[in-house]
Amino acid sequence: MGLSTSTKMIRPVKRLAGSVRMPGDKSISHRYAMLAAIAEGPSEIQGFSASADCRSTLECLTQLGVHIERGERAVVVQGVGLSGLRAPAASLDAGNSGTTMRMLAGILAGQPFRSVLTGDASLSRRPMQRVIDPLTQMGARIQSAEGGLPPLEIEGGPLKPIRYALPVPSAQVKSAMLLAGLFAEGETEVIEPVATRDHTEIALEQMGAGISRHGRTIVVRGRARLEGRKFYVPGDISSAAFFIVAALLVPESSLVIENVGFNPTRTAILDLLVALGARVRVLNVEMANGELFGNLHVEASRLRGGEIPPETVPGLIDELPALAVLGTQTEQGLAFHGAAELRVKESDRIAVVAENLRRLGAEVEEFPDGLRVAGQQKLRGAEIETRADHRMAMAFTVAGLIADGPTLIRDSACVDVSFPDFFETLASVTA
Ligand code: S3P
Repeated sequence: MGLSTSTKMIRPVKRLAGSVRMPGDKSISHRYAMLAAIAEGPSEIQGFSASADCRSTLECLTQLGVHIERGERAVVVQGVGLSGLRAPAASLDAGNSGTTMRMLAGILAGQPFRSVLTGDASLSRRPMQRVIDPLTQMGARIQSAEGGLPPLEIEGGPLKPIRYALPVPSAQVKSAMLLAGLFAEGETEVIEPVATRDHTEIALEQMGAGISRHGRTIVVRGRARLEGRKFYVPGDISSAAFFIVAALLVPESSLVIENVGFNPTRTAILDLLVALGARVRVLNVEMANGELFGNLHVEASRLRGGEIPPETVPGLIDELPALAVLGTQTEQGLAFHGAAELRVKESDRIAVVAENLRRLGAEVEEFPDGLRVAGQQKLRGAEIETRADHRMAMAFTVAGLIADGPTLIRDSACVDVSFPDFFETLASVTA
């Protein structure tokens, strides 16, 4: 048929059964690698994400003079301390990873050298003004392409602490500021409009940094020493979302999803699904280095649908593509607003979700900041244009499991960005 090697054919399945284990959380892996790099002494990171995004972070850190060993079981980072990074010989390539570029910008702002951060075509279209503004206020000199786009040329130096209220809820921007704050003299204060994922704050506490939190205000003390340590990275709930949705939608499914991160700033998807009528049970909860995780049991369910409460949207942002697919199978359909940020992710996820749902024959309404999908829809297999966005590939693979006839996922290899073994993991519970 002349399919490219990266096109996958997805056929409808009868049920999902058995168990799958989730790969290490991408957000947490980035943070442990970056913080371990500027800590004192070695850190051993078990369960580190094998994603292309996290590989980009490790490669950038290596170029900054950090020795990193990637073993079978763990990644070992030899911390160089707050003053030990070296000027890179070439530009630092963040690949597809917004988290790498934005968070690393925070570290580079405090370095006594110049560095350049670049990215792939998708990342080169993503807004960086949100980190340029506060880091410039702290004293870094940052040049970007027009409109605050990558590449970023960062002339770091001594930083002054500031008090900054984030104009958009973004854990990446918050984290960039906390990292820069480590290199400033005094206390840097960040105020969030709504609470976002707090993995950076937890990791800083675990490493002995001077960090305190009062509601949505976070204060980090500059020049405090970070201690290298052993970390375990729990599985990624944003990866689990595709399996959760698949098991809810494919009739007769009963699936155990092992190693799911349950950090309360990430579990909005579980609260939402349970409210819609999903049969999802938490089987056990453990804690490692301040992060909760455990297993889920998910069974095929009848789902009500409705409007996703806008205040919960920032906590669900990466899960919205999968939830839009789920919406087509609910009794009343599903709608959400307040998600304009989705338009500046790896693709314009509002437009790409709407386009692909229509390809599957679904009725969908697009808003500037959201979507409405009608419920109780029959999907028919179609060709899906992922726009090389990993979450589009996975969300529409799930759609393909319940569509009539085969669905073709173009550019399916882009799952490597967050979940390299996605298709193999899925095949293990659909056979
Ligand atoms: C992330 C934060 C979120 C999220 C992204 C990962 C992080 O982005 O969408 O996938 O690791 O901090 P924003 O900070 O842009 O909201």
